[in-house]
Amino acid sequence: MKKINDSVFFLGIADRERKLFDQLVPLREGTTYNSYLVKGGEKNALIDTMYAPFAKEYLDDVKSAGVKIDYIVSNHAEQDHSSLIPALLEIYHDAVVLCSLKGAENLKNMLNVDSSKIRVVSDNEEVSLGGKTLRFYMTAFVHWPDTMFTYLVEDNLLFTCDFFGAHYTSFDLYADNSPALELAAKSYYAEIMMPFASFCRKHLALARKINPAMVLPSHGAVYKDPKFIFELYEKWTSTEVSGKVLICYVSMYGNTKILAERLLNSLSKLGISAKAVDLMETDEGELAEELIDATGVVFGSSCILSGPHPRLVYCAYLMSILKPKTKFYTLIGSIGWGGNLIAPIEANLKLPSIEKLDPFVIKGCPKPQDFEALEAFARAIADKVAELKSA
Ligand code: FEO
Repeated sequence: MKKINDSVFFLGIADRERKLFDQLVPLREGTTYNSYLVKGGEKNALIDTMYAPFAKEYLDDVKSAGVKIDYIVSNHAEQDHSSLIPALLEIYHDAVVLCSLKGAENLKNMLNVDSSKIRVVSDNEEVSLGGKTLRFYMTAFVHWPDTMFTYLVEDNLLFTCDFFGAHYTSFDLYADNSPALELAAKSYYAEIMMPFASFCRKHLALARKINPAMVLPSHGAVYKDPKFIFELYEKWTSTEVSGKVLICYVSMYGNTKILAERLLNSLSKLGISAKAVDLMETDEGELAEELIDATGVVFGSSCILSGPHPRLVYCAYLMSILKPKTKFYTLIGSIGWGGNLIAPIEANLKLPSIEKLDPFVIKGCPKPQDFEALEAFARAIADKVAELKSA
C-alpha cells in the first residue's frame, strides 16, 4: 500500500508476466491493476478492486490497512477490476457496492453479486465518508456502458478506471511522463478506447472541466500532472484529418514489397506522410497504434491461392472493430495467374463512410510500365488526401 496523502492510498499490483491483454494485444511490459483506499472521518471506501489471480496479495494489503471497508466503488465491472468484489463482501459483510445502473447489471450477471449488496448511484450523486465526499460522474462507453468516474471532492482527485489508463509497470507511484509511458498509453487508447472516440472526447472535456490535481486510473501510473495525459487524448481523439497514409502489406516473393516501398517513396516525394508496415512483423497493438491517425490505408498483398493473404483480411476486420477515423482505403498487389485481392478485404472492412479507391494490381514482378502507373496511383492518393484535408 502506497500513500498518496493522509486519506488516500494506492493498492496497485503489477502483473509483469502477462503477455496479452484481451487475448489480443501483446503487452510490452505487463500491466497493473490499481485499487485505491479512501479513508474518511466516519467511513472508508475502496475504489475499484483487483483481478482474481492476485487475490491473496490484494486482500492481505486491504486487511493491513486495519480499517473497516464500508463502500466498494466499482467504476467499471470488467473482471480485471471487479472480480474480487465477492471476496471483499465475504470479509466486510456490511460493505455496500456503489456503481452505475449498468454496472449493477454486469456485477450481478458476471460475478453473482447479490442485489442487496449493491447501491446504484447516479450522475453527480455524492456519498459522504465523513469529511471526505465521493462524487460520481456517469461516463458511459469509456469503454463499457457501465463506466463512471469517482471524484474525491475535498482532495480534487479523479479516479477514472480504464480511461487514461496504460499497460505500464515502470513506475513506483507517479507517472514519469516518459516516451515509454506515452507509447503504452497510446497502445492502450488504440485498443480499448478508439472504438469509442466520440465518448472519449466528451469525457475528456468533463475531466478537463473538473480540473483535478491528479488523475488516478486503474491501469498504470498516477498522473500528478494530468495535462500530460489530457493533451495526448486531445490529439488521439481529434477529428482532424492528419493526412497520413498507412501501407499494410504481406509479400510472398518480394513483388508486393517492392510496390509498397516504391509507393511509400512516391507518396513521400509528393509531400504525403506515409508509413509502410509488413503485417507479418507487426502485432495487433502496433497496428492499432498506427491506425489512430491513419487517414488512408493501402492494403498490399500477394495472391495466395485465389485471394489476399489472410493477414490482410484479419487487418480489415481488426479495423472494423477498432474504428479508426480512416477515410479511404485501396490496395496494391501482385498476382501470379489470377484471383481477386480486394473482395475479401472489402467484405470485412465495415467502417462508416469509408471510401474505396481503385486498386493497383500487377501480374508477377513489376515492369517499367508498372512503376509509371504506380506513380499515377500515388498521385491519385495524394489528391484524395488533399481533398480530405481541405474539406
Ligand atoms: Fe481494465 Fe475494461 O478493464
